Amino acid sequence: MLPVRPFVYSGKPTSLACGEVSLEALAKKYNTPLYVYSADHIRYRLGLFTQAFATQKHLVCYAVKANSALAILKLFDRLGAGFDIVSGGELERVLAVNKAAAARVVFSGVGKTSPEIDLALRSGILLFNVESEGELDLLAERAAKLKKSARIALRVNPDIFAETHPYISTGLREHKFGIDIHRARAVYRDVAKNRWIEPAGVSVHIGSQIRTADPFGAAASRVAALIRQLRSDGLPIRFLDAGGGLGIEYHLDLPFHPEEKIQQYAAALKQAVSELEDIQFLLEPGRFLVAQAGALITRVLYLKKNGKKHFLILDAAMNDLIRPALYQAHHEIIPVTPRKGARKLVADIVGPVCETGDFFARDRAIPAVQPGDLIAILDAGAYGQSLASNYNSRPRPAEVLVEGKRARLIRRRESVDDLLGVEIS
Ligand code: LLP
Repeated sequence: MLPVRPFVYSGKPTSLACGEVSLEALAKKYNTPLYVYSADHIRYRLGLFTQAFATQKHLVCYAVKANSALAILKLFDRLGAGFDIVSGGELERVLAVNKAAAARVVFSGVGKTSPEIDLALRSGILLFNVESEGELDLLAERAAKLKKSARIALRVNPDIFAETHPYISTGLREHKFGIDIHRARAVYRDVAKNRWIEPAGVSVHIGSQIRTADPFGAAASRVAALIRQLRSDGLPIRFLDAGGGLGIEYHLDLPFHPEEKIQQYAAALKQAVSELEDIQFLLEPGRFLVAQAGALITRVLYLKKNGKKHFLILDAAMNDLIRPALYQAHHEIIPVTPRKGARKLVADIVGPVCETGDFFARDRAIPAVQPGDLIAILDAGAYGQSLASNYNSRPRPAEVLVEGKRARLIRRRESVDDLLGVEIS
C-alpha cells in the first residue's frame, strides 16, 4: 500500500521529496513555479481501479482533461488504459501518443463540432457519448457522408443530486448535460433505424469530486434499468459508461483511504448491474488517478503585513492553479524544507496576479517561512496545469515526471516569446 501522496519528508535537514527525488534539487534545476508528478503513484492508483473491477469486464478511460500532458497519456497508454476525451484537441493528443489507442477512446462533451466528429469517425474511436438529439442528427449526417459507422451511447441525465461544488455537479435536470433519462428510450428506438449509427451503450456522469459511493450506485441503477428496457427492445447494448467523478480528500488532517474508497465505489456499481448479463463498464476517472500524484512547487517572493493581516506572496498564481479561486477549493500548502523551530504564522497565501481572487488560501496557519523558501501546494496533479492560463502574460509552468530515482522534464517552461509568437500586431 502506498501513502496517499508521493510527497514525503526525508533526510537531514528534513526536506520534501517526490518519491526519492528532492524537490529542492528539482526547483534548482528547473526553476519555479514547477509542477511535479509521480509516475509510480499514477500507476498505483490505476492499479487500484483495475483490481477493484477485476471480476467485471471493464475499461478505464482516463479523463484527459484532468491532466493532458503527453507523457502522462503515454504512461496510461502503456498501462492499457483508454481515454475519455471532450474535444478534437484532446483526441489529437491521444493520437500523438499512439494512433491505435483511438480504439480505446470515448468522446464526451455537449458541443462537438463537425471537424471534431469527422476526426473521431476517421480515427475509429470506441464510442461517442452523445449529449443531445441535435448532436445525434449531426453525427448521423457526418457518419453517412464519411461512410463510417458510429458506435454511440446516449449520455443520460439521471436527475441525481451529488454533493459537490455546484460548478462541477452535472447530473440534475437543470444542468446542460445529457438527455433526460425518461426520453432516452424513444430516442434510442428512433436511432436504431439509422444504418450509420450503432447503439452500443448508455452513459452517465453525475459530477466531479463526489466522495460517497451512493450517488454513483443510484445513477448506475437507473441506467441499468434503462439498459434492460433497451435490450428488450432488441438493441444490443453492451457498454455501461459510468463516467468519472470519484473524489479525493484534499485535507491532510482528515482520513482518506483510496483503497477503501475504490472498493466501495466498485461495489456500488457492480451491485447496480447485478441483474445485467454480459455488460462492460467504461469508467472515466480523472482526479482519483492523478490529483494526489502531483504538486505545484513555488517560491516565496515576499512576506508582507497590511494592518494586522499577514501575506505570503508566491511566484505561482491563479493562472497556474485556479482551483482555489474558482471553486474555493482547499489545497494543503507546506514548506518544502521546514525551518527548525519555526512558529506558525496565519497568513493569506497569494500570487502576484492583480486580482483579489488570486489566492491559494486565506487565513491559513503555516510554519513561518522566509523569502526564497520553497512551498509545495499539494494535490495539484488534476485540473492544475490543464486549467492554467496566460493571464497577466504569465508563461505557464514547466512540468517534471518522477519515476523511481529518475526525474525528467515533460514540458519546458513557456517563454514570453511563445506567447507573443502567435500574435499579429
Ligand atoms: N467524464 C466526464 C464526462 C466529465 O465531465 C469529467 C469531469 C470526468 C469524466 C472526470 O471527472 P473526475 O473523475 O476527474 O472527477 N475543474 C474541476 C473539475 C471539473 C470536472 C469536469 N468533468 C476541478 O478542478 O475540480
